[in-house]
Amino acid sequence: MSAARRRSAACYTRPAMGETYLIRTFGCQMNKHDSERVAGLLRTAGMTPVDEAADADVVVFMTCCVRDRADERLRGQVASLKSVKAARKGHQTIAVGGCIGQRDGERLLRQLPHVDVVFGTHNVSHLPSLIDASRAGRGSVVEVLEASEEFTSDLPAEREHPWHAWVPITVGCDNFCTYCIVPYVRGRERSRPLEQIVSECERLAAEGVREVTLLGQNVNSYGRDLYGTPRFAEALAAVAQTGVERIRFATSHPKDLSGQTIEAMATIPQVARSLHLPVQSGSDRILTAMNRHYTKRSYLELVDRLYGAMPDLALSTDIIVGFPGETEADFLDTLEVLEHAHYDQAFTFIYSPREGTPAASLGDPVPREISQERFDRLVNVVQHSALAKNRALVDSVQQVLFTGVSKRDANVLAGRSEGNKVVHVPLEPGQHAEEFRGRFAPVMITEAQTWFLSGYILGEAAAGSHNADAH
Ligand code: 5AD
Ligand code: SF4
Repeated sequence: MSAARRRSAACYTRPAMGETYLIRTFGCQMNKHDSERVAGLLRTAGMTPVDEAADADVVVFMTCCVRDRADERLRGQVASLKSVKAARKGHQTIAVGGCIGQRDGERLLRQLPHVDVVFGTHNVSHLPSLIDASRAGRGSVVEVLEASEEFTSDLPAEREHPWHAWVPITVGCDNFCTYCIVPYVRGRERSRPLEQIVSECERLAAEGVREVTLLGQNVNSYGRDLYGTPRFAEALAAVAQTGVERIRFATSHPKDLSGQTIEAMATIPQVARSLHLPVQSGSDRILTAMNRHYTKRSYLELVDRLYGAMPDLALSTDIIVGFPGETEADFLDTLEVLEHAHYDQAFTFIYSPREGTPAASLGDPVPREISQERFDRLVNVVQHSALAKNRALVDSVQQVLFTGVSKRDANVLAGRSEGNKVVHVPLEPGQHAEEFRGRFAPVMITEAQTWFLSGYILGEAAAGSHNADAH
């Protein structure tokens, strides 16, 4: 990546009071977090959000380049704004940030010249002044930095939900899985000091946040760069003392998940018994080629230890099919992991070569039809596994944090269980969804589908006194 690059002049016209913005976010939870910070910055500049691009004075894209599809969608959406901008007689500032901004910089302008600002993953806080600069000069502005001077979390946030916050504990990644672009666009792993994380969570709890998600590409190595040894389990224990009622975290690299972390999950009531543990492949040969540093056997032993400590654990994973050289035998190893791991959820991906990563120059590509066929078989097995895990929860009581109403029926409340499952509860006559939003309640599960559970609220909470605690 190039060092700081900037085109155009620097006479300033701040994004003005009363102007409007729209943010479109692609990709992972870190991008959702960064978008909440962009929203915080634009709000602080006096702007208000709108839902339609045609009404927006500023449109910001927070982008992802982990797979080709996100790349293509971004290009499609930005291209379609050309006519919107023309209809507004050019009165629209288009900014592209995040991982594609970081990777492509100036190159992006060659394909999409109507973009006004390109920024990267390390300079979110500069966005308002980059918008100013693009408006002041006549050209587009590009600024891509090599590394961060700050954590985006220190910026003001405009959170999507008042009761939930993303809290990055590390940024960047040192693992260099051979298929993955992330270390190149997010930089080396850096941990935030524990006191900063704790004071942020204390403040959030005081503001009414009930659930936080601790974020990092590999949360398990949290603290290694700062303290010489990982301190993730300690971070969980410290955050549990801040008043936050439910703590989630993502993502966990299997090679670094420690016994202390398993114990913390099993014993600290605020820590959700819900774990995202990407396996990527079940074949030792492919795992070596991916640079993952574990085997099928060691992964499954870890899974056994986890279920031994937490029989009710909700486990999810990421799987890639069609990595270069993957044979049917390799794929069958992956299916075997699925059989043993009893996943609640698996995110499945067809391998997408990313320029600049080691795997992109490997030969032996898997033909698309074969990858697709493996993908379809995988999805089938995942669905069966998810349904079996959900059925086992019928007749159990789940603590649900209600988030709103079902997408299909406004008379049905929707929330998330400790295991991060969608739970639906029909509203009783006279009840209003607003009373429940952002509140916990115990729900008796009566029915299980593949991707959601249904039930009814137990006890007092059903009558509208919402003081049910998380645990
Ligand atoms: N192709 C396909 N899937 C990928 N992932 C990361 N890089 C690639 C790639 N090049 C998947 C991994 C990772 C998830 C976030 O995206 O499964 O865990
Ligand atoms: Fe990518 Fe591997 Fe880092 Fe995850 S751990 S972000 S897959 S390099």
